[in-house]
Amino acid sequence: MYRTLPIVAALVNSVVAFSDGVGKLPALGYDTFNAFGCDYNATGVAAQAEIMQKSGLVNAGYNILILDDCYALKQRNATGHMVADPNKFPTGLPAFSAQINKFGMSLAAYGDNGYETCAGYPGSYGRELQDLQTWHSWGMKYLNASKDIPADNITQQNMLGRYERMSNAIAEFAAQTGCTFEFSLCEWGWQQPWIWGRRIAQAWRIDGDIKPYWDALAAIINQASFQYWATDFYSHNDMDILEVGNTGLGTPPGNLTYAEAKSHFTAWALFKSPLIIGTDLTKATNQTLEILGNKDLIKINQDPNVGQSISPFRWGVNPDFSSNASHPAEYWSGNSSYGVVFMILNSQDTTQQMFFNLTESWAIRAGRQYSVYDMWEHNNTGVAVRNMTFALPAHGVAALLLNDAGPEPTSLDGSCAVYYQCSLPNGTYISN
Ligand SMILES: *[C@@H]1O[C@H](CO)[C@@H](O)[C@H](O)[C@H]1NC(C)=O
Ligand SMILES: *[C@@H]1O[C@H](CO)[C@@H](O)[C@H](O)[C@H]1NC(C)=O
Ligand SMILES: *[C@@H]1O[C@H](CO)[C@@H](O)[C@H](O)[C@H]1NC(C)=O
Ligand SMILES: *[C@@H]1O[C@H](CO)[C@@H](O)[C@H](O)[C@H]1NC(C)=O
Ligand SMILES: *[C@@H]1O[C@H](CO)[C@@H](O)[C@H](O)[C@H]1NC(C)=O
Ligand SMILES: *[C@@H]1O[C@H](CO)[C@@H](O)[C@H](O)[C@H]1NC(C)=O
Ligand SMILES: *[C@@H]1O[C@H](CO)[C@@H](O)[C@H](O)[C@H]1NC(C)=O
Ligand SMILES: *[C@@H]1O[C@H](CO)[C@@H](O)[C@H](O)[C@H]1NC(C)=O
Ligand SMILES: *[C@@H]1O[C@H](CO)[C@@H](O)[C@H](O)[C@H]1NC(C)=O
Ligand SMILES: *[C@@H]1O[C@H](CO)[C@@H](O)[C@H](O)[C@H]1NC(C)=O
Ligand SMILES: *[C@@H]1O[C@H](CO)[C@@H](O)[C@H](O)[C@H]1NC(C)=O
Ligand SMILES: *[C@@H]1O[C@H](CO)[C@@H](O)[C@H](O)[C@H]1NC(C)=O
Repeated sequence: MYRTLPIVAALVNSVVAFSDGVGKLPALGYDTFNAFGCDYNATGVAAQAEIMQKSGLVNAGYNILILDDCYALKQRNATGHMVADPNKFPTGLPAFSAQINKFGMSLAAYGDNGYETCAGYPGSYGRELQDLQTWHSWGMKYLNASKDIPADNITQQNMLGRYERMSNAIAEFAAQTGCTFEFSLCEWGWQQPWIWGRRIAQAWRIDGDIKPYWDALAAIINQASFQYWATDFYSHNDMDILEVGNTGLGTPPGNLTYAEAKSHFTAWALFKSPLIIGTDLTKATNQTLEILGNKDLIKINQDPNVGQSISPFRWGVNPDFSSNASHPAEYWSGNSSYGVVFMILNSQDTTQQMFFNLTESWAIRAGRQYSVYDMWEHNNTGVAVRNMTFALPAHGVAALLLNDAGPEPTSLDGSCAVYYQCSLPNGTYISN
């Protein structure tokens, strides 16, 4: 019904347009930029989609294929339309879009709110609606936009206002056509997009560009240790493109260990970040495909009933609430439709024994025991009573689902597992 409102109403409250059914859950897909930059074409992109279908990633939920920067010609045509690069897409984008649909994926667009994209291709400033029409004609319904910004004396805007031009155009386009776009902001966390992003978009970056080595991942997880609360249905912190399986691309080349790649995917999935694959899958090992296709973690990322991210209950190495790019929070939990989720991360460079009391998590009930399901082993590993201890390799992770398995054994002193939480009827605290 909102689509029939006058445009003015949509401009006044663009939240209305953005709760319009798209982007409830984090997006899952592929983006061309990190692996290929501007050096890609229809054949190469279709090869990624084909592998995603054959390896089961499309079935696992990855269904959008973002053509990042450089798909158009640098010059618009005489009527101001963007034109697809005929060398990259010799059969044209509508035909290529149909080809990608056959792999179970749909094309998505990268754009820019300014005059030019990062690589100098046409930006949408002043042509927002026209570009939405073009993307729509190319079968796209997802837009990821960055922000080369016109001069201050032209926009006279804050960051929200600069991005809002496009979200208003999306609302207008939806009002005209009944077709909307999912909108993701490529804003690097400089101006707190986790505060205002939800008003105009379904996702926003929370930090600078990812790099394919551990230090960079730990820094992003540290940022998430403070911004996790901003994620819920229709509004997602975007931790940036996945570097799982980087086989030495980039400068400096990627060097993630198997343990680090698992930690990377676990954190991104459980933080309810969009999961956007960014590596060349024609070079992917079985391990890479196994990590990206972890159905247990994707199921939590896509939980239809719980939109919140896991949250930290203890930092570990440093005191709670310490911001430290090498040592983000290590102990995390949250709820899901499938049980209480735990992510335990070893931020140190050597194997560590990790210990926690179950009731350190807000979602665990005292006096109960819990069955433990391991989301990397994909099996039940036993019953936890009050606490858990296990070893994790350097930068390694445990991803666990705990489910109530009845009262804890009566052989334990049942008066108080966590001393400061219980008292006797006369008010005296029980000590242990
Ligand atoms: C398209 O890209 C592939 C690699 O992805 C390359 O082998 C091929 O030469 C390119 N074709 C053209 C016409 O540029
Ligand atoms: C520019 O491109 C659009 C979309 O392909 C097309 O409809 C329009 O006719 C073109 N304009 C000119 C002048 O070629
Ligand atoms: C904006 O400021 C620049 C630099 O002072 C000036 O050259 C330009 O004409 C101004 N533009 C407008 C629209 O005022
Ligand atoms: C949007 O594109 C940027 C730049 O390529 C990328 O960093 C980001 O992860 C993308 N996010 C989504 C949700 O599409
Ligand atoms: C991985 O690469 C980064 C960036 O070059 C470097 O700082 C780090 O020492 C490398 N790690 C290992 C284990 O080689
Ligand atoms: C990778 O997996 C495929 C399909 O399951 C299998 O045929 C192939 O042998 C595996 N390769 C390696 C190196 O394990
Ligand atoms: C990060 O934490 C480690 C471990 O406590 C400490 O050695 C290091 O100095 C901290 N780094 C910064 C920048 O505070
Ligand atoms: C966890 O979420 C499920 C599904 O919405 C809900 O039934 C359950 O009550 C929640 N548990 C807690 C501890 O909030
Ligand atoms: C769980 O599966 C792993 C391998 O996938 C196996 O090594 C382990 O023994 C299994 N654990 C149980 C309790 O079945
Ligand atoms: C862990 O829980 C067990 C009961 O399962 C208890 O006996 C033990 O004392 C606890 N360990 C710590 C360090 O609290
Ligand atoms: C775990 O519980 C035990 C028993 O109540 C307590 O002594 C210990 O301090 C707790 N540890 C943490 C990290 O909460
Ligand atoms: C409270 O009750 C306990 C157990 O009956 C007793 O040991 C304690 O002395 C009482 N405390 C006070 C302040 O009465």
